[in-house]
Amino acid sequence: MCGIIGIITNKKRNLVPELISSLRNLEYRGHDSTGIAVIDGNTLKRIRRVGAPSDVLEEGEVSRELGIELRPFSIGIGHNRWATHGKPSERNAHPHVDCENKIAIVHNGTILNYEILKKALMLEGHVFSSDTDTEVVAHLIEQGIKDGKSFLDAFLESITLLEGSFGLAVCSVDSPDRILIAKRGSPLSFGIGKDSLVVASSANAILPHTNTFITLEDGEYAELVSENDGVRYSIGNFVDKSIDIAKNPTVIENFSLDELSKGEYGSFMEKEVHEQPSVLRTTILGRYDTKAGDAVLGGLIDYEDKLATAKQILTVACGTAHNASQVGGVLIETLAGIPVRSEIASEFRYKKIPLSPKRVVLFAVSQSGETADTLESVKEAKRKGYETFGIVNVVGSSIAKMVDAGVYTRAGIEIGVASTKAFISQLGIFYLLALKLARERGMTAPEGQDFISELEEMPEHIQKVLQNIEEQIRDYAKKCVAQNIQTINFLGRGIHVPVSNEAALKFKELTYIEAGSYPLGELKHGPMAIIDEKTLSVVLMPKDEVFALSKNSIEQIRSKGGDLLIITDVEGAKELEGSGLNLLVIPTLKNPLFYPLIEIVPLQLFAYYYSRELGHNVDKPRNLAKSVTVE
Ligand code: AGP
Repeated sequence: MCGIIGIITNKKRNLVPELISSLRNLEYRGHDSTGIAVIDGNTLKRIRRVGAPSDVLEEGEVSRELGIELRPFSIGIGHNRWATHGKPSERNAHPHVDCENKIAIVHNGTILNYEILKKALMLEGHVFSSDTDTEVVAHLIEQGIKDGKSFLDAFLESITLLEGSFGLAVCSVDSPDRILIAKRGSPLSFGIGKDSLVVASSANAILPHTNTFITLEDGEYAELVSENDGVRYSIGNFVDKSIDIAKNPTVIENFSLDELSKGEYGSFMEKEVHEQPSVLRTTILGRYDTKAGDAVLGGLIDYEDKLATAKQILTVACGTAHNASQVGGVLIETLAGIPVRSEIASEFRYKKIPLSPKRVVLFAVSQSGETADTLESVKEAKRKGYETFGIVNVVGSSIAKMVDAGVYTRAGIEIGVASTKAFISQLGIFYLLALKLARERGMTAPEGQDFISELEEMPEHIQKVLQNIEEQIRDYAKKCVAQNIQTINFLGRGIHVPVSNEAALKFKELTYIEAGSYPLGELKHGPMAIIDEKTLSVVLMPKDEVFALSKNSIEQIRSKGGDLLIITDVEGAKELEGSGLNLLVIPTLKNPLFYPLIEIVPLQLFAYYYSRELGHNVDKPRNLAKSVTVE
């Protein structure tokens, strides 16, 4: 939800190319409009455009338009917007400025009381030039300075007046040696280079500059200052008024810039889908003991007693992470016999769940670790006394920090807005967690060993699926687009239900076409009414214990004239031979509980190719942002 960048350096140069490339790395956070502001001598210059930086910002052209092509300077800030207040337009794009065009601000979050503040400022004579909530902050600081305060004091006083969430970066022509930043509820970190400090709303935009960074906590602010002999920073807290807070920087080792590029692929999504075999390998690496037939989840080691005695598991998550949690729920209930309740985070917070926190453990699942609904759920759960654990991808993210303990999913940086490899990695953790819980509740060591050996084989199976079905699924997606399919449903039973949900989510976000997902047996209780020759039903039915029932249901669909695509395994395909059905065949697995890891792959590709065929941007679907940091 919006991406912020700010660079301050004591080695003056044209920072425009660095600002633009950072904004490109942040496009997944918002891409409806974008802008840059720089301090050139004693003038604040700004450029704003509607569209994504990679489409509308070109280094040379922006430098020329700002009139700084050959002039070195030391401060610049930039922003990618995901509109909340005010439609996407140049007028509403950040950076926003005060009346005198001296103070520029970029903001990620939502200022809830902006209308009251705006009215008061207008009475003081301030003139607003956008419909955004953000602009009030520039005018509040301007007013503070007018009232005789320093830039820093005016900034601090202004942010204490704000209700809502913010990650902010502000610069002023009258204090051209510093950027002020602050965080409450929206992620914000700054990187520490030799001659530069780089603030951004995600490490993705910092890592090309430096692998050493500090992440601010809620209530913290920082002054990033450039001096003759280098750069310095100081951190304080605007709530408890503490100053000079010492924080240890995070250092990301073994980071490769390749993670931020598409490499040989045409899109990040395509790359991320193909990374899934290696991601799963990395997720599970070193996290099981083959001899003992057990999982070894280092992050949860201090809580083994809690897990061993837990009577119920709660998961909270959104979107894809919720779908992964539901697969996890089936795994845990089947293998360990512990009831699992998977809650959508935006609902969980406001629900009265009649569960005592005693003997109930809560897992918050999130790729970004910044999703506001999930983060707020964790806060609420902690307040109610639950033990909270995280299954999170981004190291050091807000959720990772807030939970009592947790496991990182190690998916690497996921840039495509449609989550793919993060899903596989979340499933990887759930397989291990289910194993751990099951071993504590009667699963024998040999059974655990068999489970591990099957899990170890899964990356290879995913690889095979990618190799064998990609062409078929591409052609099939093309055919469906040509056929002008009006309605699509993803269906399955048991563990295949949450996979169907994930398939429908991928399809909707990428194609902008409404897609349903139902337990297959539920079709006859209502949704069957929509089946006709313009509908496609994609059914997940490898040969497992519910295969015969599923066969029955697909005949019902066929009899109503509906089109069908059946995703089944080699054994299932043998049984369906001669049926005249469209089959997409995946490998047969010994343990049917592992099918989600391979059956989702063709469905990700189906959504991908369908979307491409329609000419959509697969990495940046309309109206969506990668990290949803507003509630
Ligand atoms: C998935 O394709 C979506 N982009 C979305 O549903 C996402 O999974 C959801 O917003 C949760 O994000 P998180 O995992 O970062 O918390």
